[in-house]
Amino acid sequence: MTLLDGRNLRKTYRLGRSNTVHALRGVDVSIESGEMVAIIGPSGSGKSTLMHILGLLHGPDLNHGPRPELSFGGRDMVELGEGERTRIRAREMGFVFQDFNLVPTLTALENVALACDYAGIGGAEARTASLAALDLVGLADRAGHRPAELSGGEQQRVALARALVNRPKLVLADEPTGNLDSERSSEVLATLRRFNREHGQTLILVTHDQEVAAACDRVIRMRDGRIHEPAVPAPIALRPAPALERASA
Ligand SMILES: Nc1ncnc2c1ncn2[C@@H]1O[C@H](COP(=O)(O)OP(=O)(O)OP(=O)(O)O)[C@@H](O)[C@H]1O
Ligand SMILES: [Mg+2]
Repeated sequence: MTLLDGRNLRKTYRLGRSNTVHALRGVDVSIESGEMVAIIGPSGSGKSTLMHILGLLHGPDLNHGPRPELSFGGRDMVELGEGERTRIRAREMGFVFQDFNLVPTLTALENVALACDYAGIGGAEARTASLAALDLVGLADRAGHRPAELSGGEQQRVALARALVNRPKLVLADEPTGNLDSERSSEVLATLRRFNREHGQTLILVTHDQEVAAACDRVIRMRDGRIHEPAVPAPIALRPAPALERASA
């Protein structure tokens, strides 16, 4: 079953009168429910931009080119109002941002619990779930630390705990192992794989890490704002073409 389907996704940034950046130049992408997909490509190729659009954080361009389409769980997302997009993000999606986006004044535990709060879960339930999520990424003993009191890799793992705490249908992670040494990176990858297998969670991982890409079911390559190969492989012909059938008959 298709979970996410995007067509004609474009994103243009205008900086002043003369400087236009075509971050996405028309992307078609389809993600199946339960898939673990890597998005790879050079710096500036549009990976984060695509992730932000698929995660309903930004809308695609509406005013030039063919009309964009984006559906999540079979529902159209392009026409949706900001309130409903926010609700879907909070309840059904988890994000790991490239720069973590932790709240500096809150502890690790409070940062994770914030995701519960947005999803309408509070009190003891949120605290228990947040501690369990921190434990999952090996940080139960850092629950009371603020981001400035954590290493880059630890902050990244707090961000991952926050993305996983509500067991969202879809996790979008931008370089989730970018600040981790290879041992930690393998652990995080194993955790993500386990969540994917046990909870059927769909994962979209932007990565430069070959080990992460190799562990995914599928790799989407981006270059210069476009997907570098078909997002959906051409169906394999199961029967020989009629002309060949005749020739071999
Ligand atoms: N808010 C913005 N304003 C203007 N230009 C932007 C903005 N965000 C991204 N861009 C530009 O869009 C292009 C794609 O950026 P994006 O962040 O999607 O790349 P990326 O593939 O994630 O790169 P990296 O691997 O370095 O994270 C880049 O050229 C970037 O400079
Ligand atoms: Mg990026």
